[in-house]
Amino acid sequence: MTFDRSIKIAPSILSADFANFGLECEAIEAQGADWVHVDVMDGHFVPNITFGPATCKAIRPHIKTVMDVHLMIAPVDPYIEAFAEAGADVITAHVEAGPHIHRTLQAIRGAGAKAGVALNPGTDLDSVDYLLDMVDLVCIMTVNPGFGGQKFIHSQVEKVRKLRAMIGDRPIHIEIDGGVTPETALLVAEAGADVLVAGSAVFKGGSVSNPAPYGENIRAIRASV
Ligand code: DX5
Ligand code: ZN
Repeated sequence: MTFDRSIKIAPSILSADFANFGLECEAIEAQGADWVHVDVMDGHFVPNITFGPATCKAIRPHIKTVMDVHLMIAPVDPYIEAFAEAGADVITAHVEAGPHIHRTLQAIRGAGAKAGVALNPGTDLDSVDYLLDMVDLVCIMTVNPGFGGQKFIHSQVEKVRKLRAMIGDRPIHIEIDGGVTPETALLVAEAGADVLVAGSAVFKGGSVSNPAPYGENIRAIRASV
């Protein structure tokens, strides 16, 4: 993975057909996805359950680009090794998931993955002040985590702008996650985000047997920024 600030569209397979993850990953990449965003939920840190490292390992051979694993679980540390072994390129943990995010980020890099830190909409940027020299990505949640298809929270655009200034020249991706549409993508891209996670806005109207709408949806987001 090389670093650059070009806009990357990362479809979230939370909105994919759960019975067809492998084919869905291949379809979105063929239709222009830059990264594949994988939402892991535990029914404890967030009020929804998805899947764990075994599923990540199973879909890994179907992903040629970047496997971007977003952990919405608590605790995180006991599972880092398993997600790294499953082939995650980026592993992102939430600052709110426990008292030792610094240790968690060390462990993620120690396991050989890029380290990401995610902030819920109600969490201040102060919480990453002392983490910026140990992360490869900061994810600003633009919805409360747990579900796809929620409404974009506009107050987070300002947060992205402030984060962009804090980051300066450091090679850190700014990812935004939740409620991305062509309209909201423009706002966060202007504010400094470079990785745009989009679930429902990419998968709507398509399927593995009719993947062309995925491409149209990805191009609509890209065109707006
Ligand atoms: C929310 C997840 C998101 C979600 C985005 O908890 O982290 O990645 O899938 O879905 P949309 O784009 O539909 O808001
Ligand atoms: Zn996510």
